[in-house]
Amino acid sequence: MNPSDFTTTPRRSFIKTLGSLTASLVAYPALASAQSGSGTPSRSSGAKYMGDFAAAKLPTVKVAIIGVGARGSGHAAQLASIKGVSFVGICDVVEARAKRSEAEVTKHGHSPKVYFGQEDAWQKMLSETKPDAVFIATPWPLHAPMCVGAMKAGAHAFCEVPIGLTLKELWEIVDTSEATARHCMMMENVNYGREELIYLNMVRQGVLGELLHGEAAYLHPLCMQMENGDSTGSWRTFQYAKRNGNLYPTHGLGPVAQYMSLARSEDNFGRIVSFSSPAKGRALYAKKSTKLSNPEFKTLDFKGGDLNTSIIKTVLGRTIMIQWDETSPRPYTRHNLIQGTKGVLAGFPNRMAIEGVTKSPHEWAEDAAWEEIAAKYEHPLYKRMGELSKEMGGHGGMDYLMLFRIIECLQQGQPLDQNIYEGCLWAAVGPLSEKSVAEDGNPQVFPDFTRGNWKTTKPLGIIA
Ligand SMILES: NC(=O)c1ccc[n+]([C@@H]2O[C@H](COP(=O)([O-])OP(=O)(O)OC[C@H]3O[C@@H](n4cnc5c(N)ncnc54)[C@H](O)[C@@H]3O)[C@@H](O)[C@H]2O)c1
Repeated sequence: MNPSDFTTTPRRSFIKTLGSLTASLVAYPALASAQSGSGTPSRSSGAKYMGDFAAAKLPTVKVAIIGVGARGSGHAAQLASIKGVSFVGICDVVEARAKRSEAEVTKHGHSPKVYFGQEDAWQKMLSETKPDAVFIATPWPLHAPMCVGAMKAGAHAFCEVPIGLTLKELWEIVDTSEATARHCMMMENVNYGREELIYLNMVRQGVLGELLHGEAAYLHPLCMQMENGDSTGSWRTFQYAKRNGNLYPTHGLGPVAQYMSLARSEDNFGRIVSFSSPAKGRALYAKKSTKLSNPEFKTLDFKGGDLNTSIIKTVLGRTIMIQWDETSPRPYTRHNLIQGTKGVLAGFPNRMAIEGVTKSPHEWAEDAAWEEIAAKYEHPLYKRMGELSKEMGGHGGMDYLMLFRIIECLQQGQPLDQNIYEGCLWAAVGPLSEKSVAEDGNPQVFPDFTRGNWKTTKPLGIIA
């Protein structure tokens, strides 16, 4: 069997799971209505389903970027080094940042036009430089309007996480992508990590048996960003103050969702319940700090609980726990855990316990024992590009590998590794968790952004 054709649910068990799916839909009418497409706004005439969309080949990809702060400046430098890229535009409201990235990309022989000063200078850039692909690395509230604006200007949009903040924004992104037939990808770089690619390969080869449960997280103390001058913390801090939910779910969730092939024929997002802990740490940190970049942080009423725990139930009845905490002191983790009927794979630290594969299912294979097994399942894409990606860097190489793949897919006219619906579903955890928290944990049903087309969209293959 071609590994790219593999789905982890053999036929007999699939029929069994369909039985439990029907039971679940009967018990939960809102889910039945979302998954049958009723209650979902219909696709406008002439609009196109984009789940397996491949655009016309672009031998040279004309690239522009909006937002070259902490994140975007790295993207600009890496994109400039990729063969086949022609950098046509750079935009940031802050002149010094736009010029810093201009200096960086000109080292690779590009001569982009540079835009700065005005909040809407990016629109001028789009109409004057006519890029094929626009990369967006601005503060969260600007993501949706910039994606929509880029697609309406005829460009494919590639946006930082999360791609939108409300369900209304996410629907607008989907509708615009379908109406304009332009790609719009939320750039979840973690799906390109070595461990995540190995686990995807193992799952696709059936090593874990049938998948049951996943655990995803972004636990990363980042209170010090409140001392960050005019960078990330300057705008992100206000998000923590006014919103209460899981605000940054996609780094942990993206890989788990692709292990389970959610929204890609095998299964789909069903519903979510969410709870937040008390909000304590940010106010304590702000009170103590003598280096806050904005004195207003001392008096902010932080509404967002420090640690959010959400649980997703998929259409097939699998579960995914997602945690988020950018406040409390603790070592970094994304959990990266996937449990199947034959065993479990986990991250932070890398561990696995699998019947017939590791020494015993009762103890973890870690360190050298983990590496010995993992190396046998090295992902072909990582075998091809891993060394160069590590050298080029960006979160250990995952950033470079992601940007490389985007350009490669555009040049070769292939579907992207993450489609618009996956990005919107992963990001939907933000607003749905906020609603669930506000309703003391009431389940919230995921919208079906695919309008039923997930049932025939192929799982992501093992790309060579
Ligand atoms: N995937 C990852 O690993 C990762 C890591 C860090 C940040 N991010 C994401 O990247 C995005 C940017 O974060 P950051 O840390 O670089 O923030 P930042 O504040 O350092 O950068 C944002 C930039 O956008 C610019 N900007 C603001 N409004 C603009 C406008 N109207 N037009 C043009 N430019 C404008 C700002 O001047 C700034 O330079 C966020 O969405 C964040 O969540 C992702």
